[in-house]
Amino acid sequence: MIWKEKYKIGVSLIDAQHEELFRRVTDFVETLRSPVEWTGKVGKVNETLAFMKDYVVTHFRDEEAYQRKIGYPGLEAHTKIHNDMVRYVADVAAQYEQAGYKEQLMQQFAGKLLAWLINHVAAEDQKIADYERGRGAAGNE
Ligand SMILES: [Fe+2]
Repeated sequence: MIWKEKYKIGVSLIDAQHEELFRRVTDFVETLRSPVEWTGKVGKVNETLAFMKDYVVTHFRDEEAYQRKIGYPGLEAHTKIHNDMVRYVADVAAQYEQAGYKEQLMQQFAGKLLAWLINHVAAEDQKIADYERGRGAAGNE
């Protein structure tokens, strides 16, 4: 999935984080879909899980701080979605540490990350920008 300018919410820190997430997830999905043995995918799985475990937490914290700052009314519901995602990533990491590379789990993980970019970053997060735009307009009246 390619990052597009229209996904920006107009906050440089958050936009840079979203772009990095797009890059990492796309890279991961491509590796998983490539017709090589699973042994050729393990390096990317290790890298992606280690990255996601930290980065997702940091990114969500920054995004929630911004939502709080602008008084975004969807903060509570949005935080819940974030917490579910953090739990999911931690759960996949734990399963992977315990059982090693399992094709089904990794394909499911890749699918979930991709769906998350489409449904969350490229859609749900846009509501933050919509709210801020509306707030700016109201403030100018
Ligand atoms: Fe979000």
